[in-house]
Amino acid sequence: MPLDILVGAQWGDEGKGRITDLLAEEAQVVARYSGGDNAGHTVTVGAQLYKLHLLPSGILQPRVVSVLGNGMVINPARLLAEMEQLKQSGVDVSPARIKISHAAHLITPAHVALDKAEEAARAEGKIGTTGRGIGPAYTDKIARHGLRAELLLNPEQLGDAVQEHIRQVNRVLQNIYAAPPLDANAIAAEFAAHAQRLMPYITDTSLYLHQQLAAGARVIAEGAQGTLLDIDHGTYPFVTSSSPSAGGVFNGLGVGPKWVGRILGVTKAFQTRVGEGPFPTEAFGAEAERLRGTGANPWDEFGTTTGRPRRCGWLDLVLLRYAIRVNGLTELALTKLDVLSGLHTLRLCVAYTANGETHTELPLGPADLSPFTAVYEELPGWSEDVSGARELSDLPEAARHYIRRLEALTGVPVSMVSVGPERGQIIFV
Ligand code: IMP
Repeated sequence: MPLDILVGAQWGDEGKGRITDLLAEEAQVVARYSGGDNAGHTVTVGAQLYKLHLLPSGILQPRVVSVLGNGMVINPARLLAEMEQLKQSGVDVSPARIKISHAAHLITPAHVALDKAEEAARAEGKIGTTGRGIGPAYTDKIARHGLRAELLLNPEQLGDAVQEHIRQVNRVLQNIYAAPPLDANAIAAEFAAHAQRLMPYITDTSLYLHQQLAAGARVIAEGAQGTLLDIDHGTYPFVTSSSPSAGGVFNGLGVGPKWVGRILGVTKAFQTRVGEGPFPTEAFGAEAERLRGTGANPWDEFGTTTGRPRRCGWLDLVLLRYAIRVNGLTELALTKLDVLSGLHTLRLCVAYTANGETHTELPLGPADLSPFTAVYEELPGWSEDVSGARELSDLPEAARHYIRRLEALTGVPVSMVSVGPERGQIIFV
């Protein structure tokens, strides 16, 4: 079947961008179905490092058409800036290559201001959002007064809708958060200018995808964030406001499940998390710093979108098995195996204990992980640099053993292992 789904199996930042970029070599279309510019996908092509926030990672494959699906929330200013940056690097960003759903929702400066004001007001209970206006834009969508991309095709309606929206948000900003109001006229003028540039890109992407799939094109649905940040299936309330799990693909693109082929979950060889919320396998001190890296390399564990240091720890197989279940994963792509080189002993979390009981499954999902203590299986590490490995047989026995244990404990095959950020640093199993 021609629709392959690629999702994050952890808390985001699994390296989905570089895996999508690879799979896109064989695809005609790559479509994002959820989230907005809270995502940060890093792809390295030769000496060039690309940081993508809104455009699917397939944009770097010249023959691929990129779709921004109806499940997304799009900040037009940020999208135009990203397109401009890619254009400077010689990437074709014409309407023939990028299609934006008419039913995607728009993020405005008012959503960004609200996101920041809400976070500040949460104080100790803050979620640690990326501050990109994601939650407020999805709130408007669900409350049925959001601004959809199709408004960009109708300048008069757009002006009125933006003005009304800013006036509404200003009431909240001023009366609830004692924050300064935004200039409705200026923002409406900005949106009128964005509309002029984005108009040719707006289309019914559900229809486009259907036509492509029916004609036998290979389409990749590219997830943003990760399963544990899913509004329904994640570590609520420390989640994003969309559905990054496989189920989100169908609503977020307007395609049916009948087309689905592979459902690939991307997981790092260890665990990371940005923002607040429980993290049972979190490491601290030297161990955490070792996994995080110093920040000297762009692929070290510092947020692509916010620059925040990521919390790091050991691979949690209770949570990975959960992600396999809620997404129906058929295979795993294991990333950043090279980072584990040089660690004497590796740890895999195989179960949790709470109140004297052992759990291999979460009794009530991952919302409250705070009662659980991780139970580890220890495995021998390896000292060799694995970044040059291109076949499983190039890996040290301890690394192959780590992968085999992961497969045995999850029941899902590992089909790809990445050993560095470059396109070629990959092992197809
Ligand atoms: P929001 O999506 O900006 O509302 O943030 C909600 C939570 O999701 C916060 O903990 C963020 O750190 C996290 N988050 C959002 N996008 C990403 C991502 O692309 N990678 C990792 N964490 C993310």
